[in-house]
Amino acid sequence: MQNFKDKIIVITGAGSGMGRTLALQLAQRGALVLLSDIHEVGLAETEQLVQQQGGRCKSYKVDVGDKPQVEAFAKAVLDEFTFIDVLINNAGMAIGKASFDEIPMADFERLINVNLWGVIQHTKLFLPTMLTRPEAAIVNTSSVFGLFPVPSQVPYCVSKYAVRGFTETLRMELNGTNVAVTCVHPGGIKTNIVNYGIHYNDGEKVKAEFDKVAITSAEKAASIIIRAIEKKAKRVMVGPDAKLIRFVSQLSPNLLDSFVLRRQQQLNAKLK
Ligand SMILES: NC(=O)c1ccc[n+]([C@@H]2O[C@H](COP(=O)([O-])OP(=O)(O)OC[C@H]3O[C@@H](n4cnc5c(N)ncnc54)[C@H](O)[C@@H]3O)[C@@H](O)[C@H]2O)c1
Repeated sequence: MQNFKDKIIVITGAGSGMGRTLALQLAQRGALVLLSDIHEVGLAETEQLVQQQGGRCKSYKVDVGDKPQVEAFAKAVLDEFTFIDVLINNAGMAIGKASFDEIPMADFERLINVNLWGVIQHTKLFLPTMLTRPEAAIVNTSSVFGLFPVPSQVPYCVSKYAVRGFTETLRMELNGTNVAVTCVHPGGIKTNIVNYGIHYNDGEKVKAEFDKVAITSAEKAASIIIRAIEKKAKRVMVGPDAKLIRFVSQLSPNLLDSFVLRRQQQLNAKLK
């Protein structure tokens, strides 16, 4: 994408973290940013921050995991603006550490609704108008957990592998059209993802562990993602940890499996 001036950009999960920093940086570049989030307080804060820096935005309270709400959101946006140029499917939620057999199916389903169906449904509803634009972009947030299997994270890995599969296949299908498609794989980014997640018995421990591995700021992550949209990148690894994981997963998936299993054993031993 050449530039973002006057582009109409939908950003889901804009009330915090990378969604917020993407909103601020894209508004700074002259885009009209349409912000959605389930948390009204965070959403209002982002709106205020965008306006304080002289940017243009409008916000919508939407649960991306709720089909009727997403349909109403898309209708409201398209009734008012007719089209959008960029869709950033960023909203997502995490789940605490638990084995597959311990996780209630209701939590698994909720996570898939938010992290996967939210992405698919927004894309389905906005893509037709995007195909009418001179240039457009769909940006879907997967994770490094969409690149390698992590024990105790079955639902999250399933959702992020699936976002990757959806995004990469859609990219191939849209090859030769005006719509570029980018899959985003963040490593550990300092955001509220773990604070807002579903947790079981060890919420505080998971948060403390996350603080140690979240090495990239949300601001830095947003600038990397924006650069990827400009370059029409197929995929982008966000942070040095994500780059390393991708490299090792391609070089030797077995090596990565061994590393993950060893790390898991160390963590379990510490728990005892
Ligand atoms: N932070 C990381 O280390 C990391 C790593 C890999 C991938 N990700 C992914 O990056 C994306 C952005 O997350 P973040 O790290 O900025 O976290 P964050 O929690 O700071 O921001 C996510 C936003 O999504 C919103 N959200 C959650 N559920 C929603 C729902 N049902 N409907 C609408 N909005 C909802 C939250 O309210 C929040 O404002 C997510 O998809 C996450 O899975 C994050």
